[in-house]
Amino acid sequence: MLLFSVVVVASFLCLGAGFPHGAPSIACKGMVPGHLPTVTSGTNPFRFNLSSNAYKPGETIQGTLYAPGQMFKGFLIEVGAENDVSSEETAVGEFINLDASIEKHVCGTAAVTHINNNEKSSVSFTWKASPDAKGTLYVRATVVQQFFPSRYWLGAFSVPLNPSK
Ligand SMILES: *[C@@H]1O[C@H](CO)[C@@H](O)[C@H](O)[C@H]1NC(C)=O
Repeated sequence: MLLFSVVVVASFLCLGAGFPHGAPSIACKGMVPGHLPTVTSGTNPFRFNLSSNAYKPGETIQGTLYAPGQMFKGFLIEVGAENDVSSEETAVGEFINLDASIEKHVCGTAAVTHINNNEKSSVSFTWKASPDAKGTLYVRATVVQQFFPSRYWLGAFSVPLNPSK
C-alpha cells in the first residue's frame, strides 16, 4: 500500500511538473501545454509589443511578450493565420537571433519556447516572414505562470499583421 502511494504521488508530480525546459514539439499545433488543465480564467493579461503592425515578406519584426505587472515561467510563441484559441496553428516564418539565455527553437525554427522555469517579466523575439508569406497573420502565445498546480493562458494574440505593400 505504501509502495502504491509512492508510485501514485510520483506520477502525479511528474505530470504536474510539466515541461520546465520548454514545450515539446507535440504542442506545436494546438499550443496546449502537456500538463494538467489550467486554473486561469477571465481575460488573458498577456500581450505583445511589436516593432510593426505590418510585415514585409522576407523581413523581420521584433516583439516582446509580457503582461503588465505579472511574471511567468514558460512560453510558446508562434506566428500563424489563426486568431481563435481553439484553432490549430500552422506556424509560418521563422524565429531568428534567439536570446539563448531564455529561449530555444521548437517546431523546427517556427516557434520559440523557454529553456528554464525561472520567473520572467517579458521575453523578446525576432520573427522573420518567409519570402512567400501572405495574408493576415497573428503572433500567438501560450504562457505558463505556474507548472503545479498548472496555471497557464492559451491564445494571447497580437494585433493583425497585414502584408505591407
Ligand atoms: C510595451 O510598449 C509600451 C508602450 O510603448 C511601453 O510602455 C512598455 O514599456 C512596453 N513593454 C515592454 C515589456 O516592452
